[in-house]
Amino acid sequence: MRDVATLLEALPYIRRFHGETIVIKYGGAAMIDLELRREFARDVVLLKYVGMNPIVVHGGGPEITSYMERLGMDVEFVDGLRVSNAETVEVAKMVLLGKQNADIVLGLNRQGQPAIGLCGDDGGLFKIRRHMPGGRDIGFVGEIESVDIGVLLHVAEDYIPVIASVGADASGQSHNVNADAAAAAVAAALNAHKAIFLTDVPGWLEDPADPATLIRRATTERLSGSLEAVSGGMRPKLESCLRAVQGGVAAAHILDGRKPHSLLLELFTDAGIGTMIADRFEEPDGAR
Ligand SMILES: Nc1ncnc2c1ncn2[C@@H]1O[C@H](COP(=O)(O)OP(=O)(O)OP(=O)(O)O)[C@@H](O)[C@H]1O
Ligand SMILES: [Mg+2]
Repeated sequence: MRDVATLLEALPYIRRFHGETIVIKYGGAAMIDLELRREFARDVVLLKYVGMNPIVVHGGGPEITSYMERLGMDVEFVDGLRVSNAETVEVAKMVLLGKQNADIVLGLNRQGQPAIGLCGDDGGLFKIRRHMPGGRDIGFVGEIESVDIGVLLHVAEDYIPVIASVGADASGQSHNVNADAAAAAVAAALNAHKAIFLTDVPGWLEDPADPATLIRRATTERLSGSLEAVSGGMRPKLESCLRAVQGGVAAAHILDGRKPHSLLLELFTDAGIGTMIADRFEEPDGAR
C-alpha cells in the first residue's frame, strides 16, 4: 500500500508538470559515483516518459581538476570560477565533451531514452563573451550573452539534450563557462518551469560547514541581499538561481545529488528537499 500511496502522491505533480521544461544542472560529486550516475539517468528518463521535457546541463569540476593535476597543471579558482588559460580550456573541453558528455548520453541511452550531446557551439546554441568578474581577468572564462533555443527545440522533440558548458566566442576561441550559469541561461531562454541544480551538499547552507543549517527556501529578495557573503562554488550557483528566476523560471532548486533520487523526491513528493528559490511563496517563509 505504501507504494500505491507514493504513486498517488506523485499524481498531481505529474499532472502539473506535464509538458513543462525542467532544466537540470548536473555536477559535483554526484557525477562521479557510478551507482548515482545510473540512478540519475533513470530519474531523467522517467521525467521524459511522464511527459516532461528534461534538459541536462553539466559541469565537470572535480574531474577536470583531477586531469589537470595528472598533467601537472596549476588549479586556481576565483569566487568559484576556474581561472582558465589556453591549456586549461583545452583540458576542460576534452574532459567535458570527450568524456563526461559522452558518458551522460550513454547512460540515458542505456535507460531506454535516446539523448543527444551538445556544447555551446552546436547549432549556434550559445553566444559567448569574455567574463571578467569585478573587472578581473581570469582567462578564457566565458559568459553567455544569448542562447539560440532553435537547436534545443529540435533536439528535445525526440531526444534528451545534454549540454556541456563550453563554447567559443565570435573569434573562435573556446571558453570555459560555469555550468550553473549555463543552466540558468538555458532555463531562462526556454522559459522553463524549473531549474534544478544537483550538487554535493544538501543545498544552500547558512554555515557551509554545518549541513544542519540548510536554508529550505528563500525569496529572490533575500537571496540578492545575502549573495555578497557567499563564497566558493555556491556563489555562482546562487547567482544562477537568481538569474533563472528573474529570467522567468518559476522556481530554482539546489538539491543534494549524493542522495539517490533527490530529483524525483523534489518533483513528485509533498515534502520537497534542498533549497528552493522563488520570487514569492504562498505560505510564509520557514513553512517548508
Ligand atoms: N554557503 C554554502 N552552502 C553550501 N555550499 C557551499 C557554501 N559555500 C561554499 N560552498 C561550497 O560549494 C560547493 C558546491 O559547488 P561546486 O562548484 O564545488 O560544485 P558543483 O557546482 O555542484 O559542481 P561543478 O562545479 O562540477 O559543476 C560545495 O561543495 C561547498 O563546498
Ligand atoms: Mg560549480
